[in-house]
Amino acid sequence: LRWKLAPSPGQPKYEALADAIAAEITAGRLQPGDRLPTQRDIAAQLGVTISTVTRAIGEAARRGHVSARTGSGTFVAVPVQAAAPAGQPTIDLSLNTLPDAVAKPYFDQALAALAAERRADLLFGYQPVAGSGGQRRALARWLEQRGGIDAGAEDIALTHGTQHALAACLAALTRPGDAVLCERWTYTGIRRLAEAAGVRLTGIAMDAHGLLPEDLSARLRATGAKLLICSAAGQNPTAATMPIERRREILAVCRAHDALVVEDDINARLVSDDMPPLAGLDPQRVVHASSLSKSLASGMRLGVLLAPPACQARLRDALVSQAWVAPAFYAELFARMVADGSAEACLRAQKAEAGRRQAMARSSFGADAAAEIAGFHLWLPVPPPWRIEDAIASLAGAGVRVSPANHFAVDDEQGGAAAAPRIRIALGAPEDDALLQEGLRRVAGALRGGPLAMSTIA
Ligand SMILES: Cc1ncc(COP(=O)(O)O)c(C=O)c1O
Repeated sequence: LRWKLAPSPGQPKYEALADAIAAEITAGRLQPGDRLPTQRDIAAQLGVTISTVTRAIGEAARRGHVSARTGSGTFVAVPVQAAAPAGQPTIDLSLNTLPDAVAKPYFDQALAALAAERRADLLFGYQPVAGSGGQRRALARWLEQRGGIDAGAEDIALTHGTQHALAACLAALTRPGDAVLCERWTYTGIRRLAEAAGVRLTGIAMDAHGLLPEDLSARLRATGAKLLICSAAGQNPTAATMPIERRREILAVCRAHDALVVEDDINARLVSDDMPPLAGLDPQRVVHASSLSKSLASGMRLGVLLAPPACQARLRDALVSQAWVAPAFYAELFARMVADGSAEACLRAQKAEAGRRQAMARSSFGADAAAEIAGFHLWLPVPPPWRIEDAIASLAGAGVRVSPANHFAVDDEQGGAAAAPRIRIALGAPEDDALLQEGLRRVAGALRGGPLAMSTIA
């Protein structure tokens, strides 16, 4: 070893050793993917203790210079900002959205029809926060087309999307310091909202069918939580859909603990969930939130909140203080699309597109990839011996961006992302087939190479 250990006055040895590793990387004598000598060898050659070396490697890992893989050693990390293959742009498969081209003809036509009516006056003035009667009836019909739910227009409030609905639920149904439960892997917006509301979020263990009732029961008891936020259909990120039995079990557990459920049903229409939502099975216990973001177009900031009468006043109060009025423009546009059937037609087109893109993903990763898939998102295991950080760095080097499991992890009590390394791939993000195909090819190629091929990819 030619590493120079030169602690400055008062500097601990482990820090000086981490500096020496950094200097070797800067000088190019250590390359991304290179394996470091064993800790024992480093200690013997530099005349320091093994525990100093262990701390130094921990420090180098914290700085992002190395990563350790259990059983295989410590490797020089690939820079996360690595460039895409020469001359090619990075392909973003991280944002869970819908391809615009599918929805465009339906919305172009609806916008033209709305303009031709010359009813700009519908958009003037402050609208009622829950939406006008006509707007609420349209949203109630859209909800009924989902199936398994009985939505009276009077029980509905319009929102500016599901995120807004969830924010209103936390504001209306919790107090700072409360415990709130959700899936162990959850949509990142829930974590942000929980932080803003000052509630303590606890994750419930899951299997391929969603929340595990036993763990839910245990955590309701342990935390005293009175609120659960979850999705029964096409959950983000795991793609899990609860079978009907699991839905009933989850509700029975919540009844036993007198806990309320906020059901985020945003993905149900796209994944063709033909089972009743939780709100259809127990309307007095479930607040139901959905929107158009994952079924028609993410920029259509229109959602719908269906709540038991006992919560409605509190929820409307929260909606007023957060957004003042209903999103009248989107609601008027959408009401016409529900009436003339173009909303359903657009949904069918998005479902067909999701099916086509899923088939492309399946052929890229093969049947043995054990990936879960729902609508436009895929939850792909990263096979051993990959560590999640190395996989993400390697994919960045290959010019493709995806979302790692740790972005969705609620707590690390159960081993966190390290115990279940996965990535979420957003199949709807690229606008065309060629970009998606190339993005999938880069992911499959980089993962197939295995971690030891990192230095050849970067
Ligand atoms: C599970 C889930 N809930 C809520 C949202 C936010 O939805 P909206 O765009 O309607 O606010 C998203 C968006 O990604 C989501 O995936």
